[in-house]
Amino acid sequence: MASVVSKPDPRDAQLGRARVTDTDELRQFYAELGAHNADAFWNRANAIEPWEPQSRYNPTLWKYAEMRELCLRAVELVRPEDAGRRVVTLLNDSDAGRANTAVCGWLFSGLQAMRPGEITPAHKHTASAHRFIMEGGGAYTVVDGHHITLGKNDYVLTPNGCWHDHGVAADGQLSIWQDGLDIPLMNCMESNFYAVYDAPAQTPGFPADDLPLSYGGAMQPDGVEAWARPFSPTMVYRWEQVRDAIWNFAKVSDGSPFDGHIMRYSNPRTGGWALQTMGAHMQMLKGGLHTRAHRHTGNVVYNVAQGRGYSVIGGRRFDWAEHDIFCVPAWAWHEHVNLDASEEAFLFSFNDFPVMEALGVRIEEALEDKDGRQQVQA
Ligand SMILES: [Fe+2]
Ligand SMILES: [Fe+2]
Repeated sequence: MASVVSKPDPRDAQLGRARVTDTDELRQFYAELGAHNADAFWNRANAIEPWEPQSRYNPTLWKYAEMRELCLRAVELVRPEDAGRRVVTLLNDSDAGRANTAVCGWLFSGLQAMRPGEITPAHKHTASAHRFIMEGGGAYTVVDGHHITLGKNDYVLTPNGCWHDHGVAADGQLSIWQDGLDIPLMNCMESNFYAVYDAPAQTPGFPADDLPLSYGGAMQPDGVEAWARPFSPTMVYRWEQVRDAIWNFAKVSDGSPFDGHIMRYSNPRTGGWALQTMGAHMQMLKGGLHTRAHRHTGNVVYNVAQGRGYSVIGGRRFDWAEHDIFCVPAWAWHEHVNLDASEEAFLFSFNDFPVMEALGVRIEEALEDKDGRQQVQA
């Protein structure tokens, strides 16, 4: 069985690892076990318990200039009413990515383009979703009756189990955003439900933008019913607020050696992640910054909010420009470079860190040799 074949590793010769030599008698025994839906654990142990995480996913880059054209083709070819969600899905360049409909690890991502007046019909699912707006005007989403307006580089939540529909106002502009969901994780756990609303779109039951206007700043409302849901009430994080927060942070801190000035989209009620299963960050790389390499459990999908540069992932260089998308699989070394000496670069990213933290397996390591820089493959 291909999935339990491990690469030869000299460390597996030692006491404590499976190192049984096949004999005719043992092969006969394995056949008998197989006939009973069983196997010898030592035949599989080294493969299913690797010395360190072995990602089945590869670093992959999607150029926005190319993906944008494909999104526009989808707009011409298919109506959103027929597609359900007219999304161009990003598949990791690996067998696992294609098999699991995954952008990286247990994360899904896709690009959705909508013309003025179009809607994505209302529905809900067990998977959590969030989106990053890449271009357009007049886009909105409605989450459990709360109407939320969306602008370029805004980050918006569609928490698990919430009714949601999206659209672009009739007087708006063609809008494109990146969706991120944990569909592969929900399917891996066999916990995925889906339901369609009893109308094409929800009728908003609250004033427009009531949630970000109530919960989107440093002050939290009192004297009203307390927010008791397990996700952030902010619901949308505006680009200007996010950028100003990072600029302010950068006035007083050197930031992270691995990520520059990085801030999480947080639930203001807890300080934790905005959603239960997926996290998101915005990070700023100052002009000319070249970060040190690190690696960690968890998968990260990046969208270049602004600027140009490259990232070295697993020893390979990936050049990026505005709204290019790339991913860093679990336990892959990675470092980022801003190629502009004077202008800042901003990287939006989303991840599965909340799952890693909840399970107690969020582990990180710094690259100590070569001054924290990887050898780049030719
Ligand atoms: Fe959805
Ligand atoms: Fe990282």
